[in-house]
Amino acid sequence: MLAPTQDLLRAAMTSRPRYGVLALNVIGLEHAEAIVQGAEAERAPVILQVSENAIRYRMGALEPIVAACRELAVASSVPVALHLDHATTHDLCVRAAEAGMSSIMFDASAASDQRNTKLTAIEARWAHGAGLSIEGELGIVGGKGGLVTVPGGLTDPPAAIAYVAATGVDALAVAVGSEHGMTQRLDLLDLDRIDALREAVDVPLVLHGSSGISDHMLAEAVRRGITKVNLATQLNMAFTAAIRHYLDDHETVTDPRRYGEVGRAAIVEIVRDKCRLTGAAGRA
Ligand code: G3H
Ligand code: ZN
Repeated sequence: MLAPTQDLLRAAMTSRPRYGVLALNVIGLEHAEAIVQGAEAERAPVILQVSENAIRYRMGALEPIVAACRELAVASSVPVALHLDHATTHDLCVRAAEAGMSSIMFDASAASDQRNTKLTAIEARWAHGAGLSIEGELGIVGGKGGLVTVPGGLTDPPAAIAYVAATGVDALAVAVGSEHGMTQRLDLLDLDRIDALREAVDVPLVLHGSSGISDHMLAEAVRRGITKVNLATQLNMAFTAAIRHYLDDHETVTDPRRYGEVGRAAIVEIVRDKCRLTGAAGRA
């Protein structure tokens, strides 16, 4: 069933023990189908998120991919939410609302903290008026837009308190050591900082760049208070590797259904695995 993002996040944050809700990036229909299938197999709530970059790849068209995700969510036997990821323009946020998404991430993290706060507060006022929840980011999670993760760019807990109060965001993306787009899994997180941020603010904390985090550290991050676990690269790596392997072994195949199925199955396995790791399995 279609569910609002904020309901899924609040339930996960207030539950004891806590669990993490996976927010998985959709590139095409195979991704979306596989994510919902994996979540259903584990009886887990899940968030389908579409990024501004993915919409660019879809030739600027947000509506068709979101409509497809919406249909999958409505037909699903587990709660599925629709979220716009890493939006940098108001126009895109408006289109997301019109298409039926329940939440947006407005990403002004490349600006100074002061400007980020100002821009995000304006967007939050609009989002709440439109019935959407909004995620803001404070600090620098590298690997996007030429930014790199550095100790000085990590989210400062007192600054997080001020940012949440001034902007009114419903969820906070935090810089705690992860970096977008990593193909290796490492122990990168500052767990004490997650503790401090969890203590500092009363909104769900979001981890971006989860692909680069080792399994044991990701589980610990959720235990310490990360509620929304954004994951993309690992899905794409599994999808592409499975298709590459299949095509290497079947050089004469031309039907996309043959290899598309293989790629989809690879994503299902990652989703199932991560649902168990974050404790989301069995929560729907
Ligand atoms: O917003 C999306 C995520 O932060 C994904 O990061 O591709 O490193 O898993 P990742
Ligand atoms: Zn991200």
